[in-house]
Amino acid sequence: MIFYFSATGNSRHAAKRIAEATGDRAVSITDCLKNGQFDFAAKDSETVGFIAPVYNFGLPVTVTDFIDKLNLNGGGYVFTLVTYGGFSGGASKMIKSLLKEKGIKTDAQYSVRMPDTWTPAYDVSDKEKVAETNRKADEKIGRIIDKIVRKAKGNFDSRRIPFGDKFYGGYEEMRKTSTLSVSNDCIGCGICAEQCPTEAIEIQNGKPVWVRDKCAMCLGCLHRCPEFAIQRGSKTAMHGQYTHK
Ligand SMILES: Cc1cc2nc3c(=O)[nH]c(=O)nc-3n(C[C@H](O)[C@H](O)[C@H](O)COP(=O)(O)O)c2cc1C
Ligand code: SF4
Ligand code: SF4
Repeated sequence: MIFYFSATGNSRHAAKRIAEATGDRAVSITDCLKNGQFDFAAKDSETVGFIAPVYNFGLPVTVTDFIDKLNLNGGGYVFTLVTYGGFSGGASKMIKSLLKEKGIKTDAQYSVRMPDTWTPAYDVSDKEKVAETNRKADEKIGRIIDKIVRKAKGNFDSRRIPFGDKFYGGYEEMRKTSTLSVSNDCIGCGICAEQCPTEAIEIQNGKPVWVRDKCAMCLGCLHRCPEFAIQRGSKTAMHGQYTHK
């Protein structure tokens, strides 16, 4: 059983590849949150994975909420995998300690560098660069699959930073939906609202309206809008859109 959260497809891609290689099933944390599904039973021999993107050197609020509510019975080898754009910071440490609080012992921790979806700062408009990052990521996921199959133990997160979790505090401020805006290019298709993992968007009079003060700030709405009509600050329009193909 491979639990994953993914806004733009990187972590989903890793989860699907690992699930395919190990014969496990990939379970979307967004779906679980939307359906109120938190009780799971795994066979004692079953591999259990938790895959998530790094947000502010820590974890998305969707993942911390899900782990908080999770009731997992059984399970064998347990691994975590974080996808990140530059540094995983304290995300691996954070997920391990949240799982420990739930009585789940982590056997191995992995990380993979993938295109950075935090476009208020990073640029994903160069398609060749993005493709090259994904090519290297696929090689790394292959090496991780080898380790998962032989149930390797240890912390293999090569981009963690000591005290990385100290920077996580800034995430609360980042989560304010007042930082998101929509332009007149919006055609009212509703994709942004449908895919929002925190149900923070409603379409009112043919335009998205953010109905919660805070969201996960996953930028799924910005990256998946067919008209690129959603922005966050002044730089995202220059930095392009990205979803894993
Ligand atoms: C709100 C937010 C914060 C992020 N913070 C970090 C970070 O601290 N370090 C990092 O390396 N990447 C960071 N990223 C980039 C993502 O971790 C990375 O692109 C990830 O692979 C996206 O996964 P997904 O496509 O499955 O959603 C951030 C992205 C977002 C949206
Ligand atoms: S996805 Fe884009 S075009 Fe569609 S409703 Fe949302 S903002 Fe408008
Ligand atoms: S409003 Fe946009 S950025 Fe916020 S959680 Fe929903 S999809 Fe993600």
